Amino acid sequence: MPTPPQHAPAPPTADREWWRDAVIYQVYVRSFADSDGDGEGDLRGVHDRLGELASLGVDAVWLTPFYVSPLADGGYDVADYRDVDPRFGTLADFDALISRAHELDLRIIIDIVPNHTSSAHAWFRAAVAAEPGSPARSRYIFRPGRGPGGDRPPNNWKSIFGGPAWTRLKRPDGTPEEWYLHLFDAEQPDLDWTNPDVHAEFDDVLRFWLDRGVDGFRIDVAHGMVKDPELPDLPEGQKADLLDGSTQLPYFDQDGVHEIYRRWHGIVGSYPGERALVAEAWVEDADRVARYLRPDELHQAFNFQYLTAGWDPAVLRRVIDGSLAANAAVGAPTTWVLSNHDVTRHPTRFGGGERGLRRARAATLLTLALPGSTYLYQGEELGLPEVTDLPEDALQDPTWLRSGRTERGRDGCRVPLPWEGERPPFGFSPEGGRPWLPMPEEWARYTRESQRRDPDSTLAMYTVALRHRRTAIEAAAGLDWLEAGEGLLAFRRGAGFACAANLGGAPAKVPADALPSAARVLLSSGEVRWEAGALVLPADTAVWLVPEGD
Ligand code: GLC
Ligand code: MG
Repeated sequence: MPTPPQHAPAPPTADREWWRDAVIYQVYVRSFADSDGDGEGDLRGVHDRLGELASLGVDAVWLTPFYVSPLADGGYDVADYRDVDPRFGTLADFDALISRAHELDLRIIIDIVPNHTSSAHAWFRAAVAAEPGSPARSRYIFRPGRGPGGDRPPNNWKSIFGGPAWTRLKRPDGTPEEWYLHLFDAEQPDLDWTNPDVHAEFDDVLRFWLDRGVDGFRIDVAHGMVKDPELPDLPEGQKADLLDGSTQLPYFDQDGVHEIYRRWHGIVGSYPGERALVAEAWVEDADRVARYLRPDELHQAFNFQYLTAGWDPAVLRRVIDGSLAANAAVGAPTTWVLSNHDVTRHPTRFGGGERGLRRARAATLLTLALPGSTYLYQGEELGLPEVTDLPEDALQDPTWLRSGRTERGRDGCRVPLPWEGERPPFGFSPEGGRPWLPMPEEWARYTRESQRRDPDSTLAMYTVALRHRRTAIEAAAGLDWLEAGEGLLAFRRGAGFACAANLGGAPAKVPADALPSAARVLLSSGEVRWEAGALVLPADTAVWLVPEGD
């Protein structure tokens, strides 16, 4: 293994708190770009295409896990936290990527997976080989079973991917023994965060990557590391769902997690430059999410309330106000996100087809106009829909098998990106490469190359929006709602910028007082028209407005 560079590459200039209003682009490494033709995206593929992301105009890139992994859960099953999986490249590739990113003024955030390891991790192998009650076992959550012969799992918790959250070990001679906890796949045993070894290990893993120059971490299942020590049964009929944080669960959002983040805050803060920690915490209540963002904890959390709000103006407005207020109370910026690698792509969520895409484009302008930081998921700038008809034998998400082949899982949003050309693999892999998930033939019309030539493309809209966002929207300005008609959401950000979105099914007039004086349309997600001095927005269309002359 090469030694880490003595001097980490310098982070981009200006060490203000860049993350407060950053646009952060999520790269799902396995599906972004494949440089070597094995059908799997890799770090070199990302490196070679970073220029595309710089010209799109994002501020930072979040890389999903590229660590050594059996890929039982797409790499969220880490076998070695300090090395790159050979399918994704080498540590040298990572170093080259981060240097190139910093040259382009892009920050790099990486994923850290502290709730569980892979069952192929050296610690878990040692735990399996060791005796019950041994120090090696105490890094995970092993318990004897219940009932005669310990045949029943220690409690009734369910895996988020389906089936029981416990798997029983067997000795080599077949004798059954203890059970271990896995909130996700059986190949993702949960770590025991009451064990000081676990804390020390992750302190060191954070430093390992900070020394290599990363600008931040996205913390996987950030609300899950601490469990109620009693491991109590859930009330009968309670579903274990990552997307449903509405109920108090004995393994999510326990108070103890906050101590971990206070410690991590100190570690990250001891490095030069502004580095950020972002929580993936599926917690329903905005005030509970904000607890992760207290001044001595994490910097950002994904706003999943926003992601799940649907295409409903009243719900969106409530969520926007609620998240701004909750975060303001702790001095943290709000984030906005419409898609990621765990959810159905938003054009499909919003109804699919032409209408879904129209809404998705409008949602993008709405989102990028809000105060705070925005996360984009790779491919949304191309307007990619969910692939809903992947052949069953191509499905890889553990959800598919663990749900007894009833839930297809998340592969449909992870299909590799189409870059150029008329046929799969559309430049994702070199010609002849076979992408790890099949790419639809009809994606020829979504390639980046074809959209680059079309000023009305979704890619063009994102590029222009990101450029204007830096200049036309004053970062410091708050958000003032304008009273608009049914189906309309309209707000101002200071005197120089307004956004209006028509979420209703029919054209709507933007009220005159919603317009900055002598307003002009800076950007719109679809065709808009002026009618006797009033601006008419067709259904599912959003617009950015600035004073004439700006
Ligand atoms: C997070 C990841 C998801 C993964 C899970 C378990 O929710 O985003 O992809 O399956 O954690 O690590
Ligand atoms: Mg490859």
